[in-house]
This record gives sequence, C-alpha cells and structure tokens, in this order.
Amino acid sequence: MSASPSPESFLRSLHVVDDPQAVARHAAESLVSRVDATRDRAARFSVALSGGSTPRLLFELLAGEFRDRLDLDRLEIFFGDERSVPPDHPDSNYRTACDLWLDRVDFPRDRLHRMEAESEDLDAAARRYQECIGERVRRGPGGLPDFDLIWLGMGEDGHTASLFPGTSALVEENRWVVGNEVPQLETHRLTLTFPVLDAASHVEFLVTGGGKAPILEQLARGEGGYPSGRVVPERGTLAWVVDRAAAARLPAND
Ligand code: 6PG
Repeated sequence: MSASPSPESFLRSLHVVDDPQAVARHAAESLVSRVDATRDRAARFSVALSGGSTPRLLFELLAGEFRDRLDLDRLEIFFGDERSVPPDHPDSNYRTACDLWLDRVDFPRDRLHRMEAESEDLDAAARRYQECIGERVRRGPGGLPDFDLIWLGMGEDGHTASLFPGTSALVEENRWVVGNEVPQLETHRLTLTFPVLDAASHVEFLVTGGGKAPILEQLARGEGGYPSGRVVPERGTLAWVVDRAAAARLPAND
C-alpha cells in the first residue's frame, strides 16, 4: 500500500514551469525523450494517458508541433481512468485524446486500449482491461505491469485518476483495474489502482491552475493524506510538473 512521500521527496520531484502551455510542452518533451531512450528495446513503450482537461494542451502539441518528433510505431496507449460514458460522449477521456491527438495522427486502434467504463458490468470491464494490460505491458518485479510512463492529473479534492477520497478503490492491493463508486459525483468510474501506479517506471503528474494550490501546499507539508499524495513509485521515478499558479503556495524554489 502506498505511503505518502515525505515533503522532501515531494519537493524534489517538483518541476515548476510558467504556465499550462509550459506544462504541456514539458510533458511532450518527456514523452519524446523517454520513447527515444527505449529505441533499442523490442517491447513497445507503454503510456497511460490522464483524463480531465489538463492534458488537452498536451494532446494538441503531440498532434501538431511534436507530431514528427514522436515515433508512434513505438507506442502502446492506455488510460489511467475513464468515466462511465460511451466513447463518443464529450466527457469521455478516450474521446478527448482521440479528438485532439490520436485521430489527427491516425493512431492504430489495435494499440489504443479504451476502458469500457460505460459497461453495465464494471467488474467484467475491469477484468478485461487488466487482461489487456497483462498481454501488452512488460512485467516488473512481482509480476506487476511496468508502464514506461503514467500521466496523472490531480483534482481540487486531491484525487488522481479515479482514486477519489473515501472511495473503495483506495484500499485495493491486488487488482490492477477496478470499478469505483464515487458518491461525491454520483457516478462510477474505471481506474488503475495504486499497485499499478507504484509499479511504473515513471509517473508524471501534470497540474495547472490556482485551484490546485491548496492541495499542493498540503502535499508539500506531508499533510492531507490525499490519494494523489499516496502515489510513490517503488522502483521508478516521480515528477510533479506544475505551473506557477498551482505552485503559488509552495516554498519558493531558491
Ligand atoms: C478524470 C481524471 C482526473 C483528472 C483530475 C484533474 O477522468 O477526471 O483522470 O483524475 O486528471 O480530475 O482534472 P483537470 O485536469 O480537469 O483539472
């Protein structure tokens, strides 16, 4: 089970950049360099996309300026979580990624893996997604999937992926993907779990906007016990890429 990182380790993982555009650019450069670094490896590069609105600028960069810098043939694309809506719904994380990036680069559907969170049987959908991850993602120690990169966002309540405060998915220690009832949103979701997040080679939070500043302030103090503060890669690396507005309450970087 994930323990919260120390304030020191959180602050060491912090990269403060000017604005949302700079966060998107930092993430795009990170993907390009990480994919290039695995060029000589047979296994494809596995990346899980974050949801919500923050990655929109990133997806647009990947479809535009970075299109020719990224070897798409190397990618196997997954999602960190999904809302309980069909893939053509405006709230779908899958639709957002397709509209802004993947459809624009004709990314092949056999390497793009959607969470079927609209399914009536969420447990079966979670099991199918776990099987898909098991077939497509390299395994690390203990047989857990070793994603090369997992992008995560953070809500103003400190949630990440669809690991919301007070929900059952927070205590899952074995399954990699679960359905999660989110009473505070009167909905349910599909989400990766802490064991998978903590097993990744690199986890990168992308956080922008002043609304996130109070939570980041508490994370920097080791306070709050928020789900986003409980992601601690066991072997891999962690980066928090945040803009100045979100970092407004953090100790000034000397
Ligand atoms: C989702 C996300 C969620 C998101 C945060 C931040 O499906 O909503 O995966 O974890 O990353 O809520 O959302 P914003 O980027 O819109 O602030």
